[in-house]
Amino acid sequence: MTVHASLRHDSALKHVTGQAIYIDDMPEPPGTLHAALVLSPIASGRLRRIDLSKAAAAPGVVATFTAADIPGHNNIAGPGKDEPLFAHDRVEFIGQAVALVVAGTLDQARAAAELAQLDIEPGEEILDIETALARKAYVQAPSTILRGDPDAAMKSAPHRLSAAFSVGGQEHFYLEGQIAFALPGEDGDLVVHSSTQHPTEVQHVCAEILGCAFNRVTIVVRRLGGGFGGKESNASAIAGAAALAAARTGRPVKLRLPREIDMIATGKRHGFQYRYEVGFDGEGRVLALDAVLAADAGWSLDMTPGVIARALTHVDNAYWLPHVRAVGYACRTNLQSNTAFRGFGGPQGVLVMEDALDRIARHLGRDPWDIRVLNFYRDGQDETPYGQKVDENHLARCWAEVKQGGALERRRAEIDAFNRTSPILKRGLGVFPLKFGISFNLPHLNQAGALVHVYTDGSIRLNHGGTEMGQGLFIKVVQVVAEVFKVDIDRIRPSATSTAEVPNTSPTAASTGSDLNGWAAWEAANTIKQRMIAFASEHFASAADDIEFADGTVRIAKPGSNQVMSFGELARLCYQGRVSLSSTGFYKTPKVHWDGAAMRGRPFFYFSFGAAAAEVAVDTLTGENRVLRADLVQDCGASLNPSIDLGQIEGAFVQGQGWLTCEELWWDKHGRLRTVGPSTYKIPGSRDAPPIFNVKLLDNAPSREATIFRSKAVGEPPLLLATAVWTALRNAIEAVGDHKTAVRLDAPATPERVLAAIARLRN
Ligand code: MTE
Ligand code: MOS
Repeated sequence: MTVHASLRHDSALKHVTGQAIYIDDMPEPPGTLHAALVLSPIASGRLRRIDLSKAAAAPGVVATFTAADIPGHNNIAGPGKDEPLFAHDRVEFIGQAVALVVAGTLDQARAAAELAQLDIEPGEEILDIETALARKAYVQAPSTILRGDPDAAMKSAPHRLSAAFSVGGQEHFYLEGQIAFALPGEDGDLVVHSSTQHPTEVQHVCAEILGCAFNRVTIVVRRLGGGFGGKESNASAIAGAAALAAARTGRPVKLRLPREIDMIATGKRHGFQYRYEVGFDGEGRVLALDAVLAADAGWSLDMTPGVIARALTHVDNAYWLPHVRAVGYACRTNLQSNTAFRGFGGPQGVLVMEDALDRIARHLGRDPWDIRVLNFYRDGQDETPYGQKVDENHLARCWAEVKQGGALERRRAEIDAFNRTSPILKRGLGVFPLKFGISFNLPHLNQAGALVHVYTDGSIRLNHGGTEMGQGLFIKVVQVVAEVFKVDIDRIRPSATSTAEVPNTSPTAASTGSDLNGWAAWEAANTIKQRMIAFASEHFASAADDIEFADGTVRIAKPGSNQVMSFGELARLCYQGRVSLSSTGFYKTPKVHWDGAAMRGRPFFYFSFGAAAAEVAVDTLTGENRVLRADLVQDCGASLNPSIDLGQIEGAFVQGQGWLTCEELWWDKHGRLRTVGPSTYKIPGSRDAPPIFNVKLLDNAPSREATIFRSKAVGEPPLLLATAVWTALRNAIEAVGDHKTAVRLDAPATPERVLAAIARLRN
């Protein structure tokens, strides 16, 4: 079978030899201009005047643009929302785009942008979650998930605990920065090459800015050098600015942000603050949870509503909570507008119960693993707080595999022994079970289209609405089409995502890329195949059932005289018989529905499960720490491509590890981000990956729902497995106090924070 095979990424060799073409590698037509943004240096204020005279007079400058030059709507946030491409009356954060300078070379554009003079009357600013909460400054009204009677259940609970902690945001640090290249054509038509996860939104935003119909703008995306959620909405402004400049100058315009500007101007993962109270019985069974999750939305709405919804629908994680209230606040601050980031609020949501269960275990003097297992959802019986049944529950299986495969019992004894004789270095073991919901919370986004052509030589061209950002979506969808036609994958050419080929698409996000586009491509391919069968059946006077596609050939079984021809030969015959060899395909996810006001429904087609154990070492004199080993099991259903999925799991885990340990965003007291490059913002390197790193796909777990070839999504869920590193760090720190006291550990657990936690424990 072509599906379920470990085939390498279709661009793997090009990636590693530098031959994959990213937007900045594309040849530039003569007359190409380069653009640079002018950014607000003030976090909040009234924009009185923009003086671009010096910038305009600088060498090489061809044009400058402000809000006043936008022929259409000054809006990059899509319908119903309002986020200007260029600030006009107010500025809302340091890094907000105010103007664009276009010049003959990139250096000229950037140098000229520095010469812009902005007259801003500073206003009141909010730079943190506490201040926003105190002032009730929100980008949307608070939302609540409620089940049962948490107040009464809390009151009558034999034990109660409360705690507070926080987690920081995360910079996407995609290797390829935000970029767009806009090429004007005839009659105002425009082609924009954009590094985006959401070509359709980029198309809409460009058209809105230009005040033209959507059919005038084509967005093309061959590949992204990483997106991680950061190019879901944030790519629109970059493309919109390039489109404006190209339309107005009539010349090709490229806008590429240097790393520092990229980090200052674009949104990140939402940092969260938590307060909660948990009620439980003497065994450690949770009876009630009352939690507040406050997210730093930044200055505008962006995708915060979805992030809050996903955080709230993941507060339960793997655990049955009979009575629960979880309230999500979307705090408005004068900082970058936070956006999608792998996991999309899920990673932030699950931390609440992990903190609570560790504290319950300490409180009762029980084993934190046992407390977790005790509270696991039971298969098919229990419902989530938002009313979805937890079906096909692999929690117990995943946990058993990690426990056994990671030899956790033995290693825990070894770690305890080590800690008894090691006063300075302490080790810790942390575990984490995972349940993650797959589908967009907004039901209408769960749709996809594809376009397949079969040519008369038997070669096949494949197009679909999903974007390739390194995750291996293209090879997976190629595998699906190869499986339908029973041809070799070399026969199939995946082509750049384009709004001109498949329209009205959803972003490639929420890990749904292969679920949605896989099925859409299957539909398209199968439509053609059925036509080919119908034709062959008539042409060869044979029953449809006797026509078999296998190994690149087509066999027509006839009594006494089997006929075998290549797939291409049949394609040629079909053409001569005037059969269409091109088809679209469409898919919409069944069963999903969601009432966003009541926060109830079935937002997820299915859940994916996993489990992790991580071992860490902490230097109690410096707070320095490292991950020594990780054992992961992830449910990918019947994986479409196990080696791609293993890579996704490894990468996601290390990215999650970075979020929870070393990646720290730091703003100064004026609200200026000071961690703007790899020297000050530390992403994990190859040597931070666990030296012993055992990653397994859960065997023999085909999805019970009708997913494409019974596979499950993989893009985001394994990022959450890195929570085990955070619980392991707490475990190592608590070894200082002989595991008698629970410790607060805010994330990212940098050496400073680890050291501070140790100091608190010692006092
Ligand atoms: N893997 C790579 N190499 N690069 C990326 O940018 N993005 C992640 C994940 N894996 C990403 C990645 C995110 S945020 C999502 S939602 C999924 O891939 C999207 O792709 P999929 O739906 O096809 O899995
Ligand atoms: Mo992924 S955060 O849904 O792009």
